[in-house]
Order: sequence, then structure tokens, then C-alpha cells
Amino acid sequence: MTREDFLKAPAGVEPCDGQAGDCSRCGRIYSERFPLLERRINGRPLVYLDSAATTQKPGAVIAAEARYYREHNANVHRGMHTLGVEATDLYEGCRTRVGRFLGVPGDRVVITRGATSSLNLVAGGLAPTLKPGDEIIVTEMEHHANLVPWLQLAKREGLVVRPLPITAGGELDLARLPSLLTARTRVVALTHVSNVLGTINPVAEIAAAARRRGALVVVDAAQSVGHLPFTFEELGADFLAFSAHKAYGPMGLGFLVGGADALERLEPVEVGGEMIDSVTMEAATWAPIPHRFEAGTPNVGAAAAFPAALDTIDEATLQRLRQHEISLTAYALERLRGLGGVTIYGPAEAERRGGLVSFHDPMVHPHDMAQLLDSVGIAVRAGHHCAQPLHRRLGVVATSRASFGMYNAHEDIDALIEGIGYARSVFGA
Ligand SMILES: Cc1ncc(COP(=O)(O)O)c(C=O)c1O
Repeated sequence: MTREDFLKAPAGVEPCDGQAGDCSRCGRIYSERFPLLERRINGRPLVYLDSAATTQKPGAVIAAEARYYREHNANVHRGMHTLGVEATDLYEGCRTRVGRFLGVPGDRVVITRGATSSLNLVAGGLAPTLKPGDEIIVTEMEHHANLVPWLQLAKREGLVVRPLPITAGGELDLARLPSLLTARTRVVALTHVSNVLGTINPVAEIAAAARRRGALVVVDAAQSVGHLPFTFEELGADFLAFSAHKAYGPMGLGFLVGGADALERLEPVEVGGEMIDSVTMEAATWAPIPHRFEAGTPNVGAAAAFPAALDTIDEATLQRLRQHEISLTAYALERLRGLGGVTIYGPAEAERRGGLVSFHDPMVHPHDMAQLLDSVGIAVRAGHHCAQPLHRRLGVVATSRASFGMYNAHEDIDALIEGIGYARSVFGA
């Protein structure tokens, strides 16, 4: 099939006419609120299947960030003027809103630049409490953001990193956990939802086992906040890191949420302005938690906008968003299986997965797949998805990944399947 032949076929996807919530025709949730989805790519309506990399943003989020710069822009915690007070209120309001969303008081929410910054803060901040020979358990399915900071820390402090392996079915091999947890284990670092396998990990169970050994539990929730319904307490973790931009919020903003006394254990990693109590030419003391972890001028515009994303999620309800992602994932698994010859990674049941599916088609290299799909308006991600050890374990250098948000519908998956057929035809398959 040539590209022209493919383009002559029925488009399959047209912009949603959804009004005030669900579109009864296509099942999308609030898609009319996401201005970017009206774009056409290479002459076709955009089919956006890359929400695990970043979600699209509701107009209310875009407007809130623009409003901050138009009406309030000033530095926080410094200004003795009206704008400074407004900016500080918006910034602190975001902290409180995130706390409410996850069921913790705002003073246990540290505002960072993203999940990567949050995880670096935990790893670096724990350094003074660790001794050579101490052990850290990290799962084999981690994004590099929750692996490389621990590897660096281990190199600097003489620690031992013990990988928790995965099973052939793409789940954590929990049978191996008891022998890995020792009297020297200080940290267990794991992802809530794998950004490659989609696997939802039993964080509460693992956290309980880790705590019995006195280890701290660090959860990378980059793929779960805003997608799965849960509170911080339900996870039983000591630290939880995530980025706003994967939860319908702006880029350059993230959070580290800490357990009741967990944040007390961290030494600040970044030091300078904003985070001190007093400074002399000899020494400095730190501001109270959480401000001691927020050196320098933060991304106030993004913080001013993120509550609008959480409002959108709350309006839809996380329960409904979760059911929607399960339905899309189940349909994607079914349609990809129907193609024949495609390897699909991760658990077989959609209920055990987040809203994403990684696959490998031996007929089309993942990079060619992504490029050919883009040529007909379909955005997927291809590569190692910042999880090289996991791909090595899977025996491939790269996979293709389709991932879903509230605005997707089954017909987007139909378009993906048609697109894969087109990509195969280019390679004569
Ligand atoms: C599971 C997981 N952890 C961490 C990250 C890093 O997030 P960020 O790049 O926003 O810091 C990502 C981003 O892809 C991710 O999927």
C-alpha cells in the first residue's frame, strides 16, 4: 500500500464533537477541552498516542499559565508588593492542592522541576545517612530516572545495588524479594507503573515487606498520578515522585511527597537562595521543610497552572479515567494480538496495567514504525523509553509504544492498527 492509497482510505478519526464531558459518539472524555488535538499532522487529523511521554494540556491549564504571566508575574517569597504576594499565593496554593489530591498535608509536598529532580533529591539527600556496604534494591523495570541516581549514589558512597528481577510475564518477581531484603537494605526504589510494560506494581505489599526490614521505600509515580486512583497513605511508601506534565499539567514542574518524618531524613542537595534560614560568611542553616528543598526561583507559572489540571481530573473522576484507560488498553491488546506476529510486553490483562502498550513487530523496526505512523498523523513513541536494562532483559534494543489519555477513543486504536498495516506494506510484508 502506498501512502496515497492509505490516505484515500476512510480517515477513521475525525475531531470529536464531544460536548460538556463525554462524547457519546466516540467515548472520549473532555477531548474538546484539549486545543492541540485539533491539529492536523501531515494532512491528517492528529491521533495522539504518546501520553506516557507527556499528556496534552486542557485549555484551562494553558490559560492559567498565560494568566500568571499576564497578571501576576513576580518572584515568590520575596516581594513586599502585591504581585509578589499573589505569585506566592498561587505557588503555595499549588502545594496545598497537590497535597489534597494525594491525601497529605501541603507541608509534606516539595515542589521540584519534575520526577527526575525529585528522585535525585531523595538519592542525594539520603547520602549522609548511608554507609559503605549498605544496600539498595532497585527493580529491573525502572525508568533511568529511578535507576541512575541510585547507581551514582552507590558509586560515590560504596553502596551495593541489588536488582529485583522481573518474571517472563513482565511482573516483579516477588518470590525473590525476601532473599534480597537483608539487614543492610536501606532503600527499596520501584516504579508504581512501568512506562514500558505497563505493569502496575503491588507497592503496598512491597512497602510492608521493606518496612519490616527498616528500609525506606521510594516510589516513582510518574505514570500513575492522575491516571490511577490512590492516596499516598494507601501506597505505604516513604517518598513518592512525579511530574505534572504526565498528569495533564505543564512541563518543568514536579513533586516529591514525603511520609510523616521521611523528609526530615533528607539533606538539601541544591543549596542557595530561598532555602536558607540564616547565612554567615562561615555557614548556613536551612529553612523549614519543605522550603529547604526548593533552592532558587521555581517555576511559578507552571505551579499556578497545575491546579487546573487536577480540577479537570477530579471533575472527570479518577475512577472514570481509570475505567477508560482499562477499556482502551484492553482494546489495544486485542487488536495488536489480532495482527499476528507482534510481541506485546507486560501483563496479559488490561486491569493489571496502566494505559500503555509496548510492542515489537519483527516486520518493521520500531523507529521506522514511528516514522511511518507519523507520516499518516499517528504519534507513538519508539526507542528504549529510558529503560535500557529492561529492554536488554526483554532481548530487544527498542520497542514501539502506544499510550493513552482521557481524550483517546477506540477509533484511535483502529487508526493505529490500520497504520501498522500500512507500515508493514511499505516493507513488503
Ligand atoms: C516511569 C517514569 N519515571 C520517571 C520519568 C521521568 O519524568 P521526567 O522526565 O518528567 O522527570 C518518566 C518519564 O518518562 C517515567 O515514565
